[in-house]
Amino acid sequence: MTVNTGAQAYGRACAELADTPRRWLVTGVAGFIGSHLLETLLSLGQHVRGLDNFMTGHRHNLEQVQASVGENAWKRFDFIEGDIRDGDTCTAACGGIDFVLHQAALGSVSRSLEDPLLCHAVNVSGFLNMLTAAHAAKVQRFVYAASSATYGDHPALPKVESQIGAPLSPYALSKYIDELYAQVYARCYGVDTVGLRYFNVFGPRQDPLGAYAAVIPRWISAMLAEQSVHIYGDGATSRDFCFVDNAVQANILAATSTDPAAINQVYNVAVNARTSLTELHASMQAMLRLSCPQLLPQAPQYSGFRDGDVRHSQADIGKAARLLGYSPTHDLRQGLRKTIAWYAAAERLGQADGGQARVLAGQA
Ligand SMILES: NC(=O)c1ccc[n+]([C@@H]2O[C@H](COP(=O)([O-])OP(=O)(O)OC[C@H]3O[C@@H](n4cnc5c(N)ncnc54)[C@H](O)[C@@H]3O)[C@@H](O)[C@H]2O)c1
Repeated sequence: MTVNTGAQAYGRACAELADTPRRWLVTGVAGFIGSHLLETLLSLGQHVRGLDNFMTGHRHNLEQVQASVGENAWKRFDFIEGDIRDGDTCTAACGGIDFVLHQAALGSVSRSLEDPLLCHAVNVSGFLNMLTAAHAAKVQRFVYAASSATYGDHPALPKVESQIGAPLSPYALSKYIDELYAQVYARCYGVDTVGLRYFNVFGPRQDPLGAYAAVIPRWISAMLAEQSVHIYGDGATSRDFCFVDNAVQANILAATSTDPAAINQVYNVAVNARTSLTELHASMQAMLRLSCPQLLPQAPQYSGFRDGDVRHSQADIGKAARLLGYSPTHDLRQGLRKTIAWYAAAERLGQADGGQARVLAGQA
C-alpha cells in the first residue's frame, strides 16, 4: 500500500504546476504572505498577476522577489496598483485568471478596534468585491486568507474548525463574515472557495515597524537594536506560530486540490504546537546570540493585556492534513532560525539591501 504523505501531496502539486503552468491572481502581493506566494509561484514557472495598494505592503518586498527569482521569471508577473474597495479594479484583476489567492486585508486586532469602519470596508466589502469579480470571471477557485481570530472566546484547545466562539474584535468578525460570504457564494452561485485560517504566520519580509507590527518581527527588530521587548500580559499568552512556507504550501494545495470533499471548506493553517510569549522570547534570544554574539541581551518588559487578544491558541491541523495533504515543513524553531538569519543579514547588508536595514532600525 502506498502511503500518501503530505510532503508527497505538495511535491506532486508543485510538479504538476511546473508541467502545466496556470494563471494566478495574488491580492496583497506586496505584503508579507502575498510576496512569498508570488516568489514560490514564479519559481514554479507560473504566470502571476498581483494586486495591491501598498496600504501596508511595500515596493521593496516586490523588488526582493524580483532579485530572488531573476529577470526571466519576473517577466511572468504583471502588477495592478489598485484598491479592492473598487469593484472595477477587482474585475480587471480577475480577467483570465485560473486561481485567486486573496490575501489583501487590513490585519491587526488593535487597528480594527481603532477603526472598525475601515476594517469593514477593506476586509468585508473589499472581500465581497473580489468574490463577485472572481465569480464573474469564472475563475476555477477562490482561496482566501481567513484567520484564527475567528475562534474568538471559544475555550477549546486545540482549535477545531467546526467550533468557534464569539468574535472578540471587528477584525475577527470581518474574517468570519468573509467565511460566511464564501459559503453563500458557493451555495448560491457555485463558486469554489477555500478559506485558510492562518495562525500567527511569521518569516522574512514581515513588517517589523509600526504600532500594528506582529510580535516576531517587532521583537527581532528590537533585539537587533539592543532594545528590550514589550510583552503584553504575564507572558503565558500562547500562540501556534506558523512559518510562512507552511502557509504557502496550504495555499497551493487548496488551489489545486481535485477532491470535491476538500472544496468549500475552511482549514486551520499552523503546526499544532503552542508556545508562550515568555518561551518565544527565550528561544529568540538564544538563537540571536548564535548569529549575533556581540549583541547585549535585554530583559523583556511586561505590561497589561491588550484588548481583543485571545489568551491561548493552538491549531488542530488534522482536517488540512486529511483533505488537502497539508504537512508543515517547518516547526517554530526551524522557521525562527531562517527568519532571524534573514533579519540579521538584512541589517548587516546595510543600504545595499534596498533599505531593509533602515527599515529595521525604524528610520525609513
Ligand atoms: N500574518 C498573520 O499572522 C496572519 C494571520 C491571520 C490572517 N492573516 C491574513 O493574511 C493576509 C495577509 O496578511 P499579511 O500578514 O501578509 O499582511 P500584510 O499587511 O503584510 O499584507 C496585506 C497586503 O494587502 C494590501 N492591502 C491592504 N488593503 C488593501 C486594499 N484595500 N486594496 C489592495 N491591497 C490592500 C497591503 O498593502 C498589503 O500588501 C491578510 O488577509 C491577513 O488578515 C495573516
